[in-house]
Amino acid sequence: MLHHIPVLLTEVLTIWHTKKGGFYIDGTVGLGGHSEALLKKDPEAQVLGIDRDPQSLEIAKERLKEFGSRIFFVQDNFKNIKKIMKDLKLPKANGLLFDLGISSFQLEDGARGFSFQRAGPLDMRMDPDINQTAENLIRDLSIKELAEIIQNFGEEKRAKKIAFEIKRQSLKMKLNTLKLSQIISKIVHPNKNQNLSIHPATRTFQALRIATNKELENLKLILKETPDLLQAGAHSVWISFHSLEDRIIKNAIRDWTQGCICPKDFPQCVCQKHKELFDLTRKAIVAGEKEALQNPRSRSAKLRAVEKI
Ligand SMILES: C[S@@+](CC[C@H](N)C(=O)[O-])C[C@H]1O[C@@H](n2cnc3c(N)ncnc32)[C@H](O)[C@@H]1O
Repeated sequence: MLHHIPVLLTEVLTIWHTKKGGFYIDGTVGLGGHSEALLKKDPEAQVLGIDRDPQSLEIAKERLKEFGSRIFFVQDNFKNIKKIMKDLKLPKANGLLFDLGISSFQLEDGARGFSFQRAGPLDMRMDPDINQTAENLIRDLSIKELAEIIQNFGEEKRAKKIAFEIKRQSLKMKLNTLKLSQIISKIVHPNKNQNLSIHPATRTFQALRIATNKELENLKLILKETPDLLQAGAHSVWISFHSLEDRIIKNAIRDWTQGCICPKDFPQCVCQKHKELFDLTRKAIVAGEKEALQNPRSRSAKLRAVEKI
């Protein structure tokens, strides 16, 4: 079934939309849930929808065709937004949105390799044109490097043992999602010390997906460009599902909103740093009880936003 419930929809609409008839960029348009709601809320708004995943874009195009030329799509990595805007001669945006990670549509398609519960190849690429699959990653990394990825991106306590077993088994057989899941489940299992409320393979799969798609690198790159992409008064909104992503966003916001960093006893500013953006969410916005019940995916979502000064 082709579906994905957009998270924190009311909150996104309130913050993302800053000007009637404005120009908005959805950097992770997916199946177009958030964009559709914005186009309905403001009948004059225009949206550029970007996604790395051509399959998702095809569905979004079909779903949102009623809006005609008010929405147009580009298949690309959001780290390239500045270039896309230059190539298409687009104005600075009245709002940016990044709803990070993958959609339920991608997760539920076994052939994409994202799910530990569905049989499929160890692919995990959002963009099928990149060469790096999760399988190649496992093949090319040393046990130590693989363990670091599982530890850092998955915050998995048993990373070393898991990495060792994955490498050992991958030399004996071709791994797929279910085989990988079984290997991990033999190492990470609920016992008296570990009260697991998630599937044992969740953290390792998440880590491999983040590494395969270079998700944190892409996020850091787009954060560097964010102030240049916005008109004065425009907002940029991020929804993250991982503590590392949230920390990266929080640090970027702190940096933008800080202003002069010269020591207090300097007679005048020499750092030339000025406040570029205003923090709209000192504390991240999270899903309310009702949404968390209706859409389990929303439980780990954190929304942060800034306003261009
Ligand atoms: C959580 S889904 C977005 C769902 C969307 N907001 C909706 O309501 O349908 C995240 C989407 O971002 C895309 N994505 C993730 N990283 C990306 C990147 N660096 N560049 C472009 N798209 C990316 C994924 O392919 C996926 O379709």
